Amino acid sequence: MSTDPLLGRSVPLVPPLYQSSVYTLPDLDVLDRIVNLEEPGFIYARDGHPNARHLAEQLAALEGGTWALVCGSGMAAISAIVLATVQAGERIIASNRLYGRTTQLFGQELSRFGVKTTFVDTGDLEQVRQAFREPAKLLFVETMSNPLCRMVDVPRLAEIAHQHECLLVVDNTFATPVLLKPLERGADFAMESLTKMIGGHSDVTLGLVAGRGEHLQAMSAAISIWGLASNPFDCWLAGRGLATLPLRMKAASANAAAMADWLAEQRGIKRVVYPGRADHPDHELAKTLFTEGFGNMLCFELEGGREGVNRFLRLAPGVPFSPSLGNTTTTLSHPGSTSHRYVSPAEKKRQGIGDGLIRLSVGVEELSHIQSEMKRGLV
Ligand SMILES: Cc1ncc(COP(=O)(O)O)c(C=O)c1O
Repeated sequence: MSTDPLLGRSVPLVPPLYQSSVYTLPDLDVLDRIVNLEEPGFIYARDGHPNARHLAEQLAALEGGTWALVCGSGMAAISAIVLATVQAGERIIASNRLYGRTTQLFGQELSRFGVKTTFVDTGDLEQVRQAFREPAKLLFVETMSNPLCRMVDVPRLAEIAHQHECLLVVDNTFATPVLLKPLERGADFAMESLTKMIGGHSDVTLGLVAGRGEHLQAMSAAISIWGLASNPFDCWLAGRGLATLPLRMKAASANAAAMADWLAEQRGIKRVVYPGRADHPDHELAKTLFTEGFGNMLCFELEGGREGVNRFLRLAPGVPFSPSLGNTTTTLSHPGSTSHRYVSPAEKKRQGIGDGLIRLSVGVEELSHIQSEMKRGLV
């Protein structure tokens, strides 16, 4: 029953928005009990607030974790994991195919604090084993890499990491817990950019860390001390998005699979990259890891490089050039200029991120509508 006299015995069906940065407390004893976790309550929103707690509880259950914490962005969630677990002088092993900002965080920022990162092809388990010739605190991978959807074998990476007393962190943003739950496959931390498919409507910037067992206190302290917290309204919106996540992922995955095959038949396209297609280098692994489809992300490479892309963007405004992903409607991005803008030309070449590469985040619209909008750019 509600304790709010205005509400009496009625309880709102939808969780209320607690848009308050601070709470009032009756006395010092209550404050002490809240701080010591002896009774529920909140004090200051940067330390925690009901909308973040509510969202985190739902996501912990969905991820198969014992706890989850919401942060102000996906990058804040990655930072929280590092800040809570890694000391100066320790080492990280990371995939050499990550979202560009994550690569910058590990390769440039953390080296300023005495944390060294070794980048390896985490699709090659032998390379990963070799990298453990020196100890490492974290092994960091993306389930499906941004942008080319290269897959990693999460259970086997977990085995290798744990043999070396290392924690496996999986950025599950492209897959979402609908396709794969990293914690159930052996990962120590699942990380998500809630800004993408989980928020689902391109109106929030949030991130998630979920785990099992220890690390909750250290992570929670890092979020508060380093100022990585979320705001209530974003959490409230993300909760609304979460309610339809499985439906949206199923519909968008079906659309993406059909779009990938359709694009492969169109003129002016050099290659289509989708893990659900037999010609994707990790198709077999994707089949063993995913049971609910192959996701809503795909790439295609246009003939004509950068100019070919500009032409497409100008002719097909109905597929907005909007450098994020996970909206209900189909949007596209150009990884070379956006998510991987600061990656060196040599690195882009190695990863296969060419000037003509377009990344499509397929939405839940009618397939025929997406195709007719795309067709305008492919004349
Ligand atoms: C795979 C992946 N991880 C992390 C992030 C960072 O998330 P955010 O933008 O919410 O900080 C992104 C953003 O595009 C991403 O694509």
